[in-house]
Amino acid sequence: MAIQGLFISFEGIDGAGKSTHIDALARAFEAQGRVVTTTREPGGTLLAEKLRAMILGDAMDAMTEALLVFAARRDHLQQVIEPALARAEVVLCDRFTDATFAYQGSGRGFDLKTLLFLERLVQTQQGPAGDFVRNPDLTVWFDLAPDIAAQRLAGTRVPDKFEAQPAAFFQRVSDGYLQRMQAAPNRFARINADQPRESVWRDVLAAFQRQGWLA
Ligand code: TYD
Repeated sequence: MAIQGLFISFEGIDGAGKSTHIDALARAFEAQGRVVTTTREPGGTLLAEKLRAMILGDAMDAMTEALLVFAARRDHLQQVIEPALARAEVVLCDRFTDATFAYQGSGRGFDLKTLLFLERLVQTQQGPAGDFVRNPDLTVWFDLAPDIAAQRLAGTRVPDKFEAQPAAFFQRVSDGYLQRMQAAPNRFARINADQPRESVWRDVLAAFQRQGWLA
């Protein structure tokens, strides 16, 4: 059977601890001979990284923020994600559209119907069997209580616009991730991030083994 591209996203509130596991997964896929593209949102292209600096640094209303996030996503999809998937690579993406539903939707209170419209508009791609909305094959959600995430972040770095938000904001973001998971349960692997790092890694690896993607 021909090797297929794989699109994996990683989600969770700030401080949930995604990064080390993304790096370890890249090495695990490479050890099996796969070519891996590791990327992030907002960002992943020159243009999208410029937009990221504005999104994370500048004050703006929730609609402006949602539009900029989706503009960055469009560029990232067209320039990086779709070409990598067409080359049958493994794309490991630190955050994708679930973050928009969780942060701009649930966290900031921006209209979810408009986000659904933008998701369809920005992520529609042409395939051999017709148009489809590009979404990850698997989304790994690092689920961690907001108070524990805040403790982990405290003092580690200067907080950006989102990291500086109060606990109630992150509770809403967390609820937003839960709603997205409930709407597409088969796409999600929910990982209990309130464990030692090795235990979290064991659970992450198990999710990929269940899919048959890693030995
Ligand atoms: P993050 O992924 O945590 O990167 P770092 O580890 O470098 O801080 O930061 C990205 C921030 O952007 C995070 O606070 C969530 C936010 N974000 C949105 O608000 N909407 C989105 O659609 C995306 C992709 C991210």
